[in-house]
Amino acid sequence: DWTTGNVIEEQVAAIRAQVGDKRAICGLSGGVDSAVAAALVQKAIGSQLTCVYVDHGLMRQGETEQVEKDFVASTGVNLKVVDAEERFLKALAGVSDPEEKRKIIGREFIRVFEQAQAEIIADEGPAVEFLVQGTLYPDVVESGGGTGAANIKSHHNVGGLPEDLEFQLVEPLRKLFKDEVRMVGQELGLPEEIVQRQPFPGPGLGIRIVGDVTKERLDLLRQADAIAREELTAAGLDREIWQCPVVLLADVRSVGVQGDGRTYGHPIVLRPVSSEDAMTADWSRLPYDVLSRISTRITNEVKDVNRVVLDVTSKPPGTIEWE
Ligand code: XMP
Repeated sequence: DWTTGNVIEEQVAAIRAQVGDKRAICGLSGGVDSAVAAALVQKAIGSQLTCVYVDHGLMRQGETEQVEKDFVASTGVNLKVVDAEERFLKALAGVSDPEEKRKIIGREFIRVFEQAQAEIIADEGPAVEFLVQGTLYPDVVESGGGTGAANIKSHHNVGGLPEDLEFQLVEPLRKLFKDEVRMVGQELGLPEEIVQRQPFPGPGLGIRIVGDVTKERLDLLRQADAIAREELTAAGLDREIWQCPVVLLADVRSVGVQGDGRTYGHPIVLRPVSSEDAMTADWSRLPYDVLSRISTRITNEVKDVNRVVLDVTSKPPGTIEWE
């Protein structure tokens, strides 16, 4: 019988058999999959696991704290948080091309992660031979993989890792679909906000600012995004929508009037979509009163934003994200 209890029991035994008395590392992104994979491995091998969370400064309001506090509190996991905001912002300075942004963020991420990895490996203790990944069944099928015997070779040109270091992968979610992963996470006692989290892109808010990325713009977008999320949650719409990117058009200004003065500010785009798998999507028909509340609050509360617009494009032709 498929029960979350059976899945957990089976995986805990398998992880113990695989890892033995060695150590494992897991990168946490704040997303559901890596969180549940880490929680399972933690249950199996406890302090032999170290999690690494790279804070690139492109997260939404409260997300880093959620990992640092709630995730650690509910799992007891060993967590190494790397504050790399300055490094990412410096690397992104003046860059407005979407693909260029993605490349830079991906590259810096690997460098920072590998540096943290090297520091963990240099600690006293048994060898670190395992890397935990939150690979799901659909990922396995898509890549045509079968047996889980994959070894990935670490990018060893940076970060000071041994030249020939190879990690064995631990992938405890390989047989599960997303909804099953959520059930397992819930059974493991993870916070609701992590288990039910909607998709969020790895490059974070870096690809939700049309224009180049600065700390000031990120703070502004974080504020607008927090308002939109708060109102959508309050209206009970979280399960109905797939995700709702909030985008700052930093390269665009329009004229407005506030109080008795003319303003020349930036628009914020709301991009609520409904979807099954993000391959195709439709724009969500949100209630007008919810849209109205979000718009009023954002224009009142967020400095330099004087207009809120709604994206009514399906995918295709539009992608879900703007970049
Ligand atoms: P698009 O914009 O391609 O997005 O319609 C489809 C889904 O993928 C997410 N997305 C990303 N996720 N790294 C990620 O981890 C990325 O670079 C990335 N780009 C888009 C997006 O949020 C949506 O759920």
